[in-house]
Amino acid sequence: MADPVAAPAPMAGAAASGTAAGRPQGLWERLEQRFGRREFLLKSGWGFFWLFLGGWLLSNLRFLFPNVLYEASLAFKAGKPDEYPLGISEKWKKLQRVWIVRTPQGFYAYWARCTHLGCTPNWFDAEGRFKCPCHGSNFNPDGDVIAGPAPKPLWRCAITLADDGQLFVDKGRLENRPGAREQGEFFLPYAAA
Ligand code: FES
Repeated sequence: MADPVAAPAPMAGAAASGTAAGRPQGLWERLEQRFGRREFLLKSGWGFFWLFLGGWLLSNLRFLFPNVLYEASLAFKAGKPDEYPLGISEKWKKLQRVWIVRTPQGFYAYWARCTHLGCTPNWFDAEGRFKCPCHGSNFNPDGDVIAGPAPKPLWRCAITLADDGQLFVDKGRLENRPGAREQGEFFLPYAAA
């Protein structure tokens, strides 16, 4: 005779549909059922370990490729000396931020950058001076400060003759001290033929 208080048999297919005792199984229960709790924790531990190790290796590999900024060269060829008449040429001011000055004795070049806060001054031929539009510094044709807040004379760039006979200006080498700026690589003696 059948026991009248025995629990009813579980419905067929309950386990297959992910339910236990008539209620849905949670993720944890299903993982436990699949691997066992111990094995699941072990696998998770190793998983995190390899993840950490991979991240650490990748971040170290990144240091093998440093950030390098490729900047335009500070030196340039400015054409043949005979292309320049006597006086201050603005031919390269826009492109290279340089004035090239020709005197009866030779050439020198200015970096067109105000020594106050770095604005680009303008050359006023009629007044014979450079004027900075930002805070009013004025420089005479030698580059010395004659008005305004600029603390130093304009910088002169190194200027030499390249092998092909062109002027070669290097903004990476600068000088503005009276006495030093008129000689060596900062003044190129050149007499017209
Ligand atoms: S930047 Fe030229 S005067 Fe200030």
